[in-house]
Amino acid sequence: MTFRTRTRTRTDYVEDVAPGDGALPPRAWYASSDARSLSLNGSWRLRVSGTADAEDDSFAAQGYDAGDWAEVPVPGHWVLQGHGSPAYTNHLYPFPVDPPRVPTENPTGDHLRVFDLPADWPDLAEGGAVLRFDGVESCARVWLNGTELGTFKGSRLPHEFAVGHLLKPAGNVLAVRVHQWSSGSYLEDQDQWWLPGIFRDVTLLHRPAGSALDFFVLAAYDHVSGEGTLRVDSDVAGRVTVPELGIDTATGEPVTVPVEPWSAEVPRLYDGVLATEGERIPLRVGFRTVELSDGLIKVNGRAVLFKGVNRHEWHPRHGRALDPATMREDVLLMKRHNVNAVRTSHYPPHPAFLDLCDELGLWVIDECDLETHGFTEQAWRDNPVDDDRWTPALLDRAARMVERDKNHPSVVMWSLGNEAGTGRGLTAMAEWIRGRDSSRLVHYEGDPDCRDTDVYSRMYAGHAEVERIGRGLDGGNLKRRRLPFILCEYAHAMGNGPGGLADYQRLFETYDRLQGAFVWEWIDHGIEDQRFGYAYGGDFGEELHDGNFVCDGLLFPDRRPSPGLVEYKKVIEPVAVEGDGTGGSVRVTNKYDFADLSALAFTWSYEVNGEPVESGALTVPALAPGESAEVKLPEPPVATAAGEAHWTVRAELAADAPWAPRGHVVAWGQFAVSPRRAPSVASTARPVPGDGLITLGPASFDTRTGALRAVGPVAVDGLRLDVWRATTDNDDGAAWQTDTRYGPLWRRLGLHRMRHRLDAVEPGEDALTVRTRVAPAACEIGLSTVYRWTSDGERLRLAVSVRPEGDWTVPLPRLGIRFALPAADRVQWYGGGPGEAYPDSRTASLIGRWQSTVDELQTPYVRPQENGARADVRWAELGGLRIEGDPEFFLTARRWTTEHLDAAAHRTDLAPGGAVWVNLDHRQHGLGSQSCGPGPLPRYHLRAEPAAFSFVFSQAGWPSPASER
Ligand code: GAL
Repeated sequence: MTFRTRTRTRTDYVEDVAPGDGALPPRAWYASSDARSLSLNGSWRLRVSGTADAEDDSFAAQGYDAGDWAEVPVPGHWVLQGHGSPAYTNHLYPFPVDPPRVPTENPTGDHLRVFDLPADWPDLAEGGAVLRFDGVESCARVWLNGTELGTFKGSRLPHEFAVGHLLKPAGNVLAVRVHQWSSGSYLEDQDQWWLPGIFRDVTLLHRPAGSALDFFVLAAYDHVSGEGTLRVDSDVAGRVTVPELGIDTATGEPVTVPVEPWSAEVPRLYDGVLATEGERIPLRVGFRTVELSDGLIKVNGRAVLFKGVNRHEWHPRHGRALDPATMREDVLLMKRHNVNAVRTSHYPPHPAFLDLCDELGLWVIDECDLETHGFTEQAWRDNPVDDDRWTPALLDRAARMVERDKNHPSVVMWSLGNEAGTGRGLTAMAEWIRGRDSSRLVHYEGDPDCRDTDVYSRMYAGHAEVERIGRGLDGGNLKRRRLPFILCEYAHAMGNGPGGLADYQRLFETYDRLQGAFVWEWIDHGIEDQRFGYAYGGDFGEELHDGNFVCDGLLFPDRRPSPGLVEYKKVIEPVAVEGDGTGGSVRVTNKYDFADLSALAFTWSYEVNGEPVESGALTVPALAPGESAEVKLPEPPVATAAGEAHWTVRAELAADAPWAPRGHVVAWGQFAVSPRRAPSVASTARPVPGDGLITLGPASFDTRTGALRAVGPVAVDGLRLDVWRATTDNDDGAAWQTDTRYGPLWRRLGLHRMRHRLDAVEPGEDALTVRTRVAPAACEIGLSTVYRWTSDGERLRLAVSVRPEGDWTVPLPRLGIRFALPAADRVQWYGGGPGEAYPDSRTASLIGRWQSTVDELQTPYVRPQENGARADVRWAELGGLRIEGDPEFFLTARRWTTEHLDAAAHRTDLAPGGAVWVNLDHRQHGLGSQSCGPGPLPRYHLRAEPAAFSFVFSQAGWPSPASER
């Protein structure tokens, strides 16, 4: 790479690889309890121009009249405020790769805010003042009262300027020029929307004489002695007090006292104060020691298991400008779903988020604002992390992260960045970080040799490979072989999925070396948009984009948990309740790393045919981490002959916790006591041919086609074998995947356009038999399908048998029947619920009696696709029909056809048709997570092999179809 020599212009800083000029050195982020501060968030004037140099800097001068500029709230992104458009790419740079040059078309937002100091602001002659920007994308130039303060890059990092000498009591003019593109953009190629703007707080901080500058709270815990050692190093000497611990010491002086340690499970914080001559700073001290020992990541002497998520900052209207309530909601949702760790992918979050992690308890991998993924397109040639000219910018980013966040006990690892290849710059960052803070570990996933890291980290490795790593059979260099392993990303939660979580968790819990994983990712980055419901890549006319790859979270954009999160909660629950239902006891295991079970209360309930018969409290000892106990269940309250019976044991919060109320269910187990009796229908009725119709018990059929027309008063249309599902993002798979992707293969074979050839309609003595062959055009493969209808005069039984013909080399998407009902609204069923479940994502499905509506059965994936199946359904009632299955089946019902669902690109493409389409599936293919990771494990494949299944139809007592219209 050569840097061209050009004539310097007034916008040269934009393309300069240097991180900026004029800013103060980075330091800890804190709120003083007595020094004044003034938030400059609020309404600002904005003028957006098309290039970096379209406007001169006269707007920064005092007296400039910006009366005709737009007004926008800060923090914000101007492209989400009606000025220009957002753009989404995964790893491709949306501009030519010619570092450090950026396009001439460089949207530039001039921001202006005039402010007065509050009347009680301290005398300007006393002390100074600092202007802090917590996040500006991607490059800014700042003036106060006409004087230029400097420039900076590093979008998700703080930058401060000394401004005391420039302030006036009133009429201060703060001018900020923000460029969308800069040399910094090459370092910020994260998979997310490109969103320029001042998107985090702007604050003026008074700095009294003798105020603290920077300080470092070092609070270690010795798990052998049970003592904590606190030392606060401060640039300005002062005293440190922690009243609860009787600590009153000078800065720089270590004190050792008995303490309760901090962990994500028991986030014990001690309030303290750092007092310098000029100010008092509240401290929240958490004592904990992070180390690598015996090849494991240990905190306070114990190996930890991360049950994590990758969190991008996201709000469907405000982008990465998050308000405090949204940050809290994220942490509460994580805690309530048993998540214990968060990787701040792929940049340091708003600092308030880390306060919440300290307070409510989450392990944090704090990741630097660095990704150069787009260079992979040119075999990493010119990668900034391997070019010394960029190293100052990399070190600046590392320092701004570490200095800002170093006082958070929740942060246990520093991550150098994401997908930036390898190079000397990364090594320089790691060395600097270790030199500054030896109390945490260093993470980076992109280097298979683990040169700079304390942990071997990967993304999207399949189960088999993870198991090999767990066994230490993965090879790699000597250093790597000795390191603990985490999956910093796995289980790509795009659309319907991920599948396979439980299979991963079993591995993590089996092999010590596997210290857990972080689901990709926390939330869908859909943008609220009237046209689409939620917009994704391409919806703003981007010339390059990656579509809905930006919607791959466990939460929908409105933070509604997706079924994937409900599944994850169950898979990672910290208490295992196991049993076989018949032994009279359950085995309870404490899977926490630190907490005993004293915070939980256990209950049992006994259900017959899905209805709770009796319930009560279960006494479980306050087991220590890792301990198990066999706990006796009461005598079953009713005789087992009464029907299918289950025990359900729940672990609930015994008292209100800061993150969930008393009674919140943390874990559960369910055990079958006595099996279900399969429905049986005597074949006593005989098919009676009539005028165009054959009647059989309550049903009538078309004489010519054998098609079912009605069951009693309920009209039934189009009942036939169905193998197609609207492919999920995980069925479709990512284009770059080398493993077989079944979605495209299925479509190539024509499984979405199966033809049904009628071979015979045979009314017999005790059955109506319809023989068909179901096959796609142009292929020799097919499914010989026989429908055998029988009845006892009241109920109607359908036995379906399917025999594959030809050489089936692919699994089937689904196998079952589908039909349309003229109307249905309320649905009740006995089986798995309350939410959807698929073969490799069904641990959260609880057997019981459930009610819903057709509309509520839908899972609103941002890009519509197969969804909403309820698993293990014994019987269901909807639209006036009662349907019993033998064996249990998957139930889906929707107001549109599968074809319609398949064709939809956004939620708004789905409009109710005139009927309700019902699928009763004998089997479904698994989900997997091939939209970025591995497909479903072979055991969840729906192989094309001979199959037989049956359903019994009768009129439902509830609800009547008439009341549904
Ligand atoms: C990873 C990357 C993430 C995201 C994910 C796919 O490679 O680190 O940022 O792109 O894949 O959604």
